[in-house]
Amino acid sequence: MALFSVVFAMTVLSPTRTSSSLVPGPLNTNLQTVHQFPDFTWMENMAVRKNGQILGTDLSAGKFYLVDPQNPNLEPPVLAQFPDGSCVLGIAEVQEDVFYTQTIFGDGYTFNFQPNTSAFWEVDMRKYSEKSLATVRKITDLPAVGLPNGMTLLSKDEGTVLIADSTRGLIWRVNVHTGTSEVVFDDPLLKPISGAEPSFGVNGVRIVDSLLYFTSYNQALIASLPISHEGRPTGPATVISSDVPTADDFAVDGHGNIWLTENVQNTLVRVSPNGQVQTIAGGPNSTDLIGPVSAAFGRGYDDRDTLYISTDGLTFSASGKILTSNGKIAAIDTKHLCED
Ligand SMILES: *[C@@H]1O[C@H](CO)[C@@H](O)[C@H](O)[C@H]1NC(C)=O
Ligand SMILES: *[C@@H]1O[C@H](CO)[C@@H](O)[C@H](O)[C@H]1NC(C)=O
Repeated sequence: MALFSVVFAMTVLSPTRTSSSLVPGPLNTNLQTVHQFPDFTWMENMAVRKNGQILGTDLSAGKFYLVDPQNPNLEPPVLAQFPDGSCVLGIAEVQEDVFYTQTIFGDGYTFNFQPNTSAFWEVDMRKYSEKSLATVRKITDLPAVGLPNGMTLLSKDEGTVLIADSTRGLIWRVNVHTGTSEVVFDDPLLKPISGAEPSFGVNGVRIVDSLLYFTSYNQALIASLPISHEGRPTGPATVISSDVPTADDFAVDGHGNIWLTENVQNTLVRVSPNGQVQTIAGGPNSTDLIGPVSAAFGRGYDDRDTLYISTDGLTFSASGKILTSNGKIAAIDTKHLCED
């Protein structure tokens, strides 16, 4: 997730994401809209079900939507509504069709979060086809987590996930069965830069084999490190690129390329394992991807090379007023790109 205050939008960003400076980018026939949500929908993060449907978290309204790329005209049903005033952030699947997510009370658009109000939830989709309802329950409060942002599966057997704490600059492990949590990684690379607006460190986290990848938002970097089954470092972190401003959430493909959203840059980039950064879609002045926040690959035979991208849809006027807030889920065929 990335949020920025009015002050940041007006004075720090260059270019600012103001609507007057945005125009459609170069025609990219490969980028398609899966679903365009209405105003005040912030598509913060996604998990793809085994059947190809997407669970999308709406940060601003504390909701989960179910988006079906096979039925793009279907109005996405609301799967879960978290308590009034909740912002909902990262998501991870632990057992098939059992997802976990995290909330904090506050207002994302004004970047105002209530300290010590983070919570961890289960969203069980196993009976969804019968009841058209997900079963939602709170597993635990996480009062010591500053701002719970990205989430990734650590161990299916043990029922553990890792979560990125953007304001305290920490990575936590949470056991989804017991609700216990502890810090497993604390490093300067995870820390926010004090005085930056917003002051965010680690943002997205993904584990591939025994490598933990993470972005650090203020430090404009993507890095990886080897970890144990318990999620603890077994070697030093390697910075893959430190040229990814406002680095948000991301997906890693089978070749170790990182498909990364640069939130305030309105850009999706591909970072190769040797650190080359290539723009794939959008751009600082483009309306193609306004505020991209997360990326996830499809899981079906037909769409495993399709990258889904979610956006917050945010633009501001020069005086900092919200002009657009209609997030979306977009798709891009990466197979086509890799063959270029
Ligand atoms: C409440 O939040 C603050 C700031 O993140 C943190 O330092 C403190 O430890 C938290 N308190 C509890 C009881 O967890
Ligand atoms: C974006 O627009 C600004 C203002 O018009 C311009 O200075 C800048 O070069 C543009 N950036 C890109 C990447 O096109």
